[in-house]
Amino acid sequence: MQFKRFTVTSALPYANGPVHIGHLAGVYVPADIYVRYLRLLGKDVVYIGGSDEHGVPITIKARKEGVPPREIVDRYHSMIKQSFEEFGISFDIYSRTSSDIHHNTAAEIFRTIFDKGVFDERSSMQLYDEAADQFLADRYVTGTCPHCSFEKAYGDQCENCGTSLSPLELINPRSALSGNVPVMKETTHWYLPLDKDEEWLREWILEGHKDDWKVNVYGQCKSWIDQGLRPRAVTRDLDWGVKVPIEGAEGKVLYVWFDAPIGYISATKEWAAALGKNWEPYWKSNDTKLVHFIGKDNIVFHCIIFPSILKAEGSYILPDNVPANEFMNLESEKISTSRNWAVWLHEYLLDFPGKQDVLRYALTANAPETKDNDFTWKDFQARNNNELVAIFGNFVNRTMVLTQKFYEGIVPEKGNAEGEYADIIRQISEFPALIASSLERYRFREAQGIFMDLARLGNKFLTDQEPWKLIRTDPQKVKEIIHLSIQICANLAIAGEPFLPFTSQKIRTMLGMGEITWEMAGNCALIPDGRQLGEAHLLFAKIEDDMIEHQVQKLRMTKEENTEAQLSSSVLPAQPSIEFNQFAAIDIRIATILEAEKVAKTKKLLKLKVDTGIDQRVVVSGIAEYYNPEEIIGKQVLLLVNLEPRDIKGIASQGMILMAENAAGELSFVESEKAFAAGSRVK
Ligand code: MF3
Ligand code: ZN
Repeated sequence: MQFKRFTVTSALPYANGPVHIGHLAGVYVPADIYVRYLRLLGKDVVYIGGSDEHGVPITIKARKEGVPPREIVDRYHSMIKQSFEEFGISFDIYSRTSSDIHHNTAAEIFRTIFDKGVFDERSSMQLYDEAADQFLADRYVTGTCPHCSFEKAYGDQCENCGTSLSPLELINPRSALSGNVPVMKETTHWYLPLDKDEEWLREWILEGHKDDWKVNVYGQCKSWIDQGLRPRAVTRDLDWGVKVPIEGAEGKVLYVWFDAPIGYISATKEWAAALGKNWEPYWKSNDTKLVHFIGKDNIVFHCIIFPSILKAEGSYILPDNVPANEFMNLESEKISTSRNWAVWLHEYLLDFPGKQDVLRYALTANAPETKDNDFTWKDFQARNNNELVAIFGNFVNRTMVLTQKFYEGIVPEKGNAEGEYADIIRQISEFPALIASSLERYRFREAQGIFMDLARLGNKFLTDQEPWKLIRTDPQKVKEIIHLSIQICANLAIAGEPFLPFTSQKIRTMLGMGEITWEMAGNCALIPDGRQLGEAHLLFAKIEDDMIEHQVQKLRMTKEENTEAQLSSSVLPAQPSIEFNQFAAIDIRIATILEAEKVAKTKKLLKLKVDTGIDQRVVVSGIAEYYNPEEIIGKQVLLLVNLEPRDIKGIASQGMILMAENAAGELSFVESEKAFAAGSRVK
């Protein structure tokens, strides 16, 4: 199928935090490589991006900071937009889902589907937080995952095992707002009957895209469809989002995963309007190729739910491909915004100014295309020093410097040595098709690898020919060598543009190249004889060990901070309330420790003799890991004196010493601030 135009989207990031290398590696760099390539081909392409500004992640962040959601999305939208610009992610438009055009577009699509009678309206009992006066949808509720027993699963998903959940499936649900145990309350919502979509989804994906969709994407779709699709509520009881555009739906908004992907459409409208173009062919014409770049956690939404929404609406095309990536980890651990385990793009640029292409290169070289991959600072350094500096940069620099030295920067004539270099010239001519074939199959790391082979070829050519020696004996041949080297540099500028746009621009400036097209690539007559080249600039510089050590150190500190924060934050919720007389029955006294010794064959137990003021008695206490017997003689402690005697390791223990226990399970005596006599009552 010959497509007339391309609509390329990349997932709209939640505007609840800055963007990090995981975002770039998984979604934005591959999408950007793809659209830059299409533009070089001269294709009609629109590349859509924007911020996802609704949904619980935003309102939770706002609540945490005690500011309105508007403030959160404004802050992060501009921050994210700037980061993308700085890294050369070449959106035709970067919009946001809080815009009017988006609210109108999303509401209109909902309304159209509603009017067709597609939605089921259903009442059901949902979790409700009485203190916060709010229904607990999605991430507003946490609890234990019914599949893997992970205790911090969300109401929409368990991040431990990846299962998608509904709030009612959680074991021991708790409100993320107050920590309270929720109650049940009735509410009405509109459901998209996905169960009725199974047949065409099977035909479209499982039969139609078996060979061209990535294995990870196809596999997830198959497992969703095989498990049987269920109706999905597409509205929520929240006040932040797109208002449900029908009567009787006050206080309800569209589910964020209903409105967000429609953001691609709204953004296209906004882009087209600004240029006086018609947006509709980009979404409604069969000769448009629609491609969604996303991360693997978005697969079901882009392959099943959004297509079902578009199908229900009736006038839209479906994606031709959804090249989802797996995840990029950081130094062997999952990237996490809340744990600050990430390399933030804005921080990277402060530490490595001007090195956008280095990061783009390292992330693509290691892209998580078929499985989760790991970003390490060591690998980043090696990619820079051993590949960009030693091969690509070295080749271009030697070519520029030699041209300057031998010919005052003027391109020497080609001569007639073509026969001798025919093989190299043929190899150069074959590169573009190889790279293109990989790009068209969404194999970006492979494509970049082939591009790098071209730089390798150039570097090896110079090294083998040794023009710096030959200049004394065969100056005519040196002209030919340098001429060809300059043509290879020009080819690198073209073929490298999708991957390393900043570097490509630098080479083009040095070589005085005008506009480039993909068609020019492979040609060895790009730069004419006699042209005065521009000043030579180094493309890449070595990254020293101390720079890398600094980054590793930064991560080490994050880890320490996290451990501390985790310890101080894991406070257990309060026990159910008791009546006063239950408390009054508890008799706690100040007691003095008279003797202490370890209980044989145990690790934790001390046998203590204490003076309670009432009597002297024996108590066994599990504190041996925290206190040595000799250091506690004479200490005044709190003792529960009316606990029934218990037999511990053959010793009758008469009472219990009260200890404070922290989140790490460490124990500490609780002491009276004044030296009160043994027997004083604590109440
Ligand atoms: N905000 C979502 C995420 O970060 C992605 C939304 S993609 C869209 O996972 F299609 F819904 F916009
Ligand atoms: Zn789980």
